[in-house]
Amino acid sequence: MQRDEIISWLRQDDPSALERLWRLADTVRQENVGGEVHLRGLIEISSYCGRSCAYCGLRIENALIRRFRMSEGEILECAHEARRLGYGTVVLQSGEDFALDAGKVARLIRRIKNELPGMAVTLSLGEREPEELALWRESGADRYLLRFETSNRELYDRIHPGLGDKPSDRFLILRGLRELGYEIGSGALIGIPGQSYSDLAEDVLAFDRLDLDMIGSGPFIPHPDTPLGGLNGAEVPRAENQVPNDELTAYKVIALTRIVCPRANIPSTTALAVLNRESGRELGLRRGANVVMPNLTPRQYRGLYTIYPGKTCLNEVENYPGAIREKIEAIGRTAGTGRGDSPRHAAPAMN
Ligand code: 5AD
Repeated sequence: MQRDEIISWLRQDDPSALERLWRLADTVRQENVGGEVHLRGLIEISSYCGRSCAYCGLRIENALIRRFRMSEGEILECAHEARRLGYGTVVLQSGEDFALDAGKVARLIRRIKNELPGMAVTLSLGEREPEELALWRESGADRYLLRFETSNRELYDRIHPGLGDKPSDRFLILRGLRELGYEIGSGALIGIPGQSYSDLAEDVLAFDRLDLDMIGSGPFIPHPDTPLGGLNGAEVPRAENQVPNDELTAYKVIALTRIVCPRANIPSTTALAVLNRESGRELGLRRGANVVMPNLTPRQYRGLYTIYPGKTCLNEVENYPGAIREKIEAIGRTAGTGRGDSPRHAAPAMN
């Protein structure tokens, strides 16, 4: 698909045309990755963050939240819970918490791998040093998630300041992760103030160029205590062809991502489930997605990992992570039982 075609789909509002897009994405999904929905247990291990991203509620300047860091024992307990629920992957996610030192994380990965043979470990710990990423890979980590957020460099720099004099280059980090042998995941934020339709189309094309194993994109949800949520009126100027940060645009991005990257693992994201608690997740799965990441963070910390508001009010999947299987079967799919590795290099699924 060319850039202009992606843009016209992103602008499409005719329901019958969109119905065709959903059907095409669903067919491409079935033919390339089959009917299985892979389950990843998300564990938010620390809300400390040293960065100043203009969109994120965990930014260092936000003094209004109580920070938490889980102990190794607590994290292992969650990983065992993932196994009890039959999930094949745990995702360890945090802010950029430099007290999570490389050695501690390496030991944690080794313990999960030892205690839970066959469990895939995905890390989502932000922009860390190449030596740290190498150590974690040697310790057994399988995958790394790092969204590039937007491929528009100017917009990215405005909303994602570097650290000291070090500019942030997530494309470079993703290449390094690939060389280390990780499966790599990335994605974009949809509807950042200042993001144009053509920026978002470029993001979708970048997914393909980066040859990603996993592609998770979600709607931008303004957080009131951040610059992009209106704090200090420091908003980024709106682009002339501003992309909406709504549910419909998020489905379009999922569908177009599936069509452009047919073999990728694509999650139906939490932010989508926040915009539509009733059926956001299912609709994502019916419009191209094949992965769900239920939140397994212990209750006492759940409300504190406030990347964006609204996450705290738990929906059914988050309250009863076992219920996800029924929901998946209700839309005619099956819940995966294995690790759900990247099908990028595997043979096409047989019908
Ligand atoms: N709305 C939606 N998603 C957000 N993220 C951070 N802040 C927000 C927000 N306000 C996403 C970023 C990050 C991921 C962990 O959460 O894309 O990579």
